[in-house]
Amino acid sequence: MSRASNVHPVNPRSLRAAAARLRRGELVAFPTETVYGLGANALNVRAVAKVFAAKGRPAGNPIIVHVSDRKMLRRVVRNVPPSATKLIARYWPGPLTLILPKNSLVPSLVTAGLDTVAVRMPEGSARELIRLAGVPVAAPSANRSGRPSPTTAGHVVQDLPRVFVLDGGPAAHGLESTVVAFDPPRILRHGAITEEDLGEFLRKGIRTGARARRTGKRRAASRPRGERPAESPGTKYRHYAPSRPLILFRRKSPLFAYAEAHPDALVLCPGWLAPFFAASRVVPLGDSIEEVARNVFAALRTRLRGTELLVLAVPRRGLGRAVMDRLERAATRIV
Ligand code: TXA
Ligand code: MG
Repeated sequence: MSRASNVHPVNPRSLRAAAARLRRGELVAFPTETVYGLGANALNVRAVAKVFAAKGRPAGNPIIVHVSDRKMLRRVVRNVPPSATKLIARYWPGPLTLILPKNSLVPSLVTAGLDTVAVRMPEGSARELIRLAGVPVAAPSANRSGRPSPTTAGHVVQDLPRVFVLDGGPAAHGLESTVVAFDPPRILRHGAITEEDLGEFLRKGIRTGARARRTGKRRAASRPRGERPAESPGTKYRHYAPSRPLILFRRKSPLFAYAEAHPDALVLCPGWLAPFFAASRVVPLGDSIEEVARNVFAALRTRLRGTELLVLAVPRRGLGRAVMDRLERAATRIV
């Protein structure tokens, strides 16, 4: 496939060009270790407005501000509580987003009127891009609102064909960052860093996984587990809609029965399940939960022919919690 003229492999030259665009108030889609982001100068309201317009994003859904260093962090927040300082020391740069008191420099458009701002320091070329731009970069995932997050430059082009895209290959984690609020420290969105990883930092906080398990199925059907909708505005919107209806099966036998009765449905399969189905209807997810996490958004975008997507629940531990959150939100039906 020939590369679209607006897609540029990451190299020192394309990074400089992208940084100049950000400084001019234009949009740049760029790879991060989690998913691709659609970036704009976070301190420029008109630039940020372009992000909302390009994505069709509801104005009530605030955007993560990406920084390249702690000095830039101090430009966007009023203060950093000690519990956040510990997390920063341990996990930045990396796939962890912190909800902190916002500074008056940050336009309220970025935070959807909240007095907090979500901040993250990404790794690698994303961090280098922000450093070169010299401004904090507001960036949601680079998909049209309501679609699965993009994990390749090709996914970005599917949703936003005209945007300038830096191509850094497939995203390393494939799931968005974990979002943590204070105080007490608590997870608002499960992501690439697991609740188990964060264990000691959350000890005095709220274990969202345990809360979610107690509230059971009814809640899962109406809204995602493990998130507190009042605090995490993104979760009230329909999300991750796949290319066609998706049915999430909690157990194996109903999946097999349904798949047999519906031979035109595709099956999103972890490696161990694939041998049970004809190869032509299998969308492979990989063997380990890390691979499943990396492949799940691409699978939701599959272009194979098939009437529906069928997927089996994964165990709700480690990365499985974040994967299940995405699948539950993508699902048309959970059985
Ligand atoms: O990995 C990621 O986090 C990617 C990459 C590009 O960094 N970004 C991403 O952004 O996933 P987005 O917009 O798709 O998701 C941001 C989430 C939303 O659920 C949003 O509601 C929440 O963070 N959020 C942003 N600001 C917030 C705030 N001040 N308080 C609570 N939640 C906030
Ligand atoms: Mg998103």
